[in-house]
Amino acid sequence: MTPAYELLQLSDTHIFANRDEVREGVDTYQCFIATLEHALANSTPDVVLLTGDLAEDYSRAAYLRIRGLLEEIGRPIYCLPGNHDHLGRMIETLSRTPFHFLETIRLGPWVIPMLSTWDGDRGGGRLGEEELHRLRDELEASDADHALVCLHHCPIDVGSAWLDAVGLDDGAELLDLVREFPQVRSVLCGHIHQELDTIVNGVRLIGTPSTCYQFQPGSERFTLDDKPSGYRVLRLFADGSIETRVGRVAD
Ligand SMILES: [Fe+2]
Repeated sequence: MTPAYELLQLSDTHIFANRDEVREGVDTYQCFIATLEHALANSTPDVVLLTGDLAEDYSRAAYLRIRGLLEEIGRPIYCLPGNHDHLGRMIETLSRTPFHFLETIRLGPWVIPMLSTWDGDRGGGRLGEEELHRLRDELEASDADHALVCLHHCPIDVGSAWLDAVGLDDGAELLDLVREFPQVRSVLCGHIHQELDTIVNGVRLIGTPSTCYQFQPGSERFTLDDKPSGYRVLRLFADGSIETRVGRVAD
């Protein structure tokens, strides 16, 4: 079957204002450039998703560097914030065409709500009543056959004590809500800097590596993985199925 639409997800870019700055020994800006080049050479996305933790240092300059790289690729770019983001600066720099900030995407039979889990820079996240209501209203109002829900924090624990301690406070509420709407085919997140594709009580949860440094799955304490920069390609079909793969820069 021909895919209805192809999405490219880039997550957790952690860009600094200063070109020379590194985190965890990684030059996040150079990683982002390499990941973007690899992704665009190996996919033909209709839409790009940026799922949070875009700027490491909350600076306007970091967002401007992201904008400079992405505004020329000729695709609409839909963004949502992570715990490392600065809402005001992100809106200021990434909400004019081709960028869209927290805007729901509609692609043929698919609707893709973009949610905010931003709750300050404490690490963890929270949707809150307002965002959960917004999702419910959008799913009830939409005539789309299928939905993909996007957010930064992962709604479930991933088995790493330190990472699960900075998870999503109301992940269970989100999954309860999603289960009321069988048109929701999956929930897609960033934040965990590792690959995830699992089904929990009937809900498919997909997580994606970072474009820079990766976290070791299953680690009790903060531990880096030596896997290279990654991204995810999702192909959405008219029958509601999703085909997806992770790409790595070293592949
Ligand atoms: Fe991150």
